[in-house]
Amino acid sequence: MKSIRRHSGIAVCPGSFDPVTYGHLDIIQRAAQVFDKVIVAVLVNASKTPLFDLEERKGLLQQVTQHLPNVEVDSFNDLLINYMVQKQADVIVKGLRAVSDFEYELQMAALNRKMNEDVETFFMMSSSQYSYLSSSIVKQIAQFHGPVGELVPPEVEAALRAKYGTS
Ligand code: PNS
Repeated sequence: MKSIRRHSGIAVCPGSFDPVTYGHLDIIQRAAQVFDKVIVAVLVNASKTPLFDLEERKGLLQQVTQHLPNVEVDSFNDLLINYMVQKQADVIVKGLRAVSDFEYELQMAALNRKMNEDVETFFMMSSSQYSYLSSSIVKQIAQFHGPVGELVPPEVEAALRAKYGTS
């Protein structure tokens, strides 16, 4: 793997992570190569009812990032920009899968910047093999006992199987 000069400062990868997929993990791993410290921050107060509760989502994230020493898993129940200040974090890292992600992400990045111009949003293009991947799609496939082994880490596959049962 190529070595990239690490940037000092704290980056935050925010999301619902219900559950974490290989697409998320790709972005988290790449962010961990670029920044000194990466906090994966799970949003507590999602408007939608999550399949996995907060502790389950954090637990899965901790398991799948344990090989990354500069990554920690946390949660927040606030505006992201307030959480950034609380953590003294400089950079929000988001993954962009396709053009369809762009409009919403642009809106959030612009509003976050308006609220606090000291915090930057960095976008990473999702690796092409994960450009179609989302937690909702994974849940749909798992619900009907379809194959998710190439979409999520084994720990997550097992947790999905426990939720939906095996057929
Ligand atoms: O994985 P998701 O659900 O796409 O993540 C969305 C998330 C958590 C990054 C976004 O909803 C967020 O930042 N929520 C925190 C509340 C907030 O700050 N909202 C205003 C954004 S301008």
